[in-house]
Formats: sequence, structure tokens, C-alpha cells
Amino acid sequence: MPKRDLTSIFDLSETEIEGLIKEAVRLKKEKKRSLPLQGKTLAMIFEKSSTRTRVSFEAGMYQLGGMALYLNSTDLHLGRGETIQDTARTLSRYVDCIMIRTFAHDNVTQLANAASVPVINGLSDLSHPCQILSDLLTVYEKKGDYKKPVYAYIGDGNNVLNSWIEAAGILGLNLKIATPALHKPSQAILKKSLAMNPKSVTLYDNPADAVRDADIVYTDVWVSMGQEDLREEKLKAFSGFQINDSLLKHARPDAIVMHCLPAHRGEEITSGVLDGRQSVVFDQAENRLHMQKALLKFLIK
Ligand code: CP
Ligand code: NVA
Repeated sequence: MPKRDLTSIFDLSETEIEGLIKEAVRLKKEKKRSLPLQGKTLAMIFEKSSTRTRVSFEAGMYQLGGMALYLNSTDLHLGRGETIQDTARTLSRYVDCIMIRTFAHDNVTQLANAASVPVINGLSDLSHPCQILSDLLTVYEKKGDYKKPVYAYIGDGNNVLNSWIEAAGILGLNLKIATPALHKPSQAILKKSLAMNPKSVTLYDNPADAVRDADIVYTDVWVSMGQEDLREEKLKAFSGFQINDSLLKHARPDAIVMHCLPAHRGEEITSGVLDGRQSVVFDQAENRLHMQKALLKFLIK
């Protein structure tokens, strides 16, 4: 069997996503832990900050009987010119899986192509597949199904939204999106998803139109890691795209509010909504752990 990677949600089939959600549900309930990854090691390369991804992968590996190595890219020779290919080939001799959080998505693909062990995209500028897999678990828990709900994403056309669009294409979700005109998601990803499922994604200009009758209202930061220089410009462009009480009134009364975190309170979402009764953001954060474990079991044979 050739090794598998998770560079994007497109690497998975509908059945595999379903299987990962089932396994994560099972692992979350598991009373007595089995140790299926005893003796296995995960190397985690970070070029950017992380709280949830780092800790959930590290704790997850430990809970499955294995261990995780935190590697800051500037401490590796990768940070001073050793090629991604040579890094991949070297790490493949020591560890059973590699996770990378990086700026350029091409780094993820190059690493996956050169490594003989599975490679996981722990966030790139293009996508954040691990986040969306665990969010599907959260939607399943809260709504009893992840295909029926109506999803509304309001905010930046960034890595998180691109992965949602991929999931929408594969699973045939009903995803309604409102972004400012100059901050739309990847057109290539959108095109591919619409080719898989023509009705899966609808774009709106106005946040209230996208949120109308939604079961899930999702947002993410307006200024992603690495975009700090664009901060002033983006804050202006996103005026009117905040998730607040008045926008939320357009959604279904039992809608849940989701955010991958970290949040910039008072920018893309008010503290009132983030801490309010409809928010499930810390369940989302917890589910990163259960889904990482299901994913690690799936990839590391
Ligand atoms: N949501 C997420 O990936 O969080 P971290 O940046 O803390 O890993
Ligand atoms: N879009 C955000 C997600 C953080 C988890 C970023 O890339 O910074």
C-alpha cells in the first residue's frame, strides 16, 4: 500500500472522512486507552505559532502510545538552506509521520513528495485541513449530521475557508460564503469543488444574505499569520463582516457559532457572541485532539 498524506481535504474520499469522524467519536468515548501507536514518532515542523495544533498533536501521539517531536524550522538546517527534499528524506529515516505548519503551501507538497512517511499539513497559507476535519466532528456532535446543516462562512477568503470549500465539494455540503470583494477564496479550489458538487458553494456580497437561515455561522481572523503588514488595510475592508448579535439574528435561532481560534475579539467576532450561548468554540478546540488521534491512526500503519 502506498503511503498516504493529508496535504489538503482533497486527499480524502467521502468514505474516508466519514470513517475518520466515526473513529474520532469512538476515541473520544474510549474509557481504557489502547496504545496503537506504541513506539511510533511524529515530527512536527513549525514555521508559525500554534497552540491548538501543536498541543493536540503532541498530546494525541502520547495518548496513542507514541511520541511527538516539536521542531522549530529555524532550529532545523531547513531554516538555513538545507532543502526540503533532503530534510524529508532524512526525517523519513527516523520518524513515522511528519506534520508541517508553513507559509508556502508548496513546501507541504514538496515535503509530501520527497518523504517516504505520511505528511500532514498542519496549516499553510492555502489550507488548514486538520481544522476542518475536527470541525466536521463538532458539527456532527451538535447537529447530529454534518451534511444536512446549512453553513455560512463570513470573513476572509483564507486557508480555513479554502479547506471548507474542499469539504463542501467532496461531501456535497451547503456552504454559503460572504467575503469582501478583494478577499475571496482560492478560485482554483472553488472551481474544483463546484465541478464535484455544483450546488455545494454559493457566494454572497452581503453577510446577512449568507447567514440567512444558516445552522452554522463560522468565521476566522481577518489578519492571518504572516499578513501583519496588511492589518490596517484589511480591517477597513472587513468592516460590516463582523459576527455580532445583529448579524446572528438572520441565522436560525438554534444556529451554532464556530471559530477555529485564536480569535481577535472585537474584530471578526464580538466577545458577546464568542462567549455566548450559541458558541461552540472550545468544543471545537477540544475536538482537534480527538480528530488528530483518528488521523494519526489512519495515516501511520
Ligand atoms: N486553530 C488552530 O489551528 O489553532 P493554532 O494556531 O493554535 O494551532
Ligand atoms: N487563518 C488563520 C488560522 C489560524 C489557525 C491563520 O492562518 O493565521
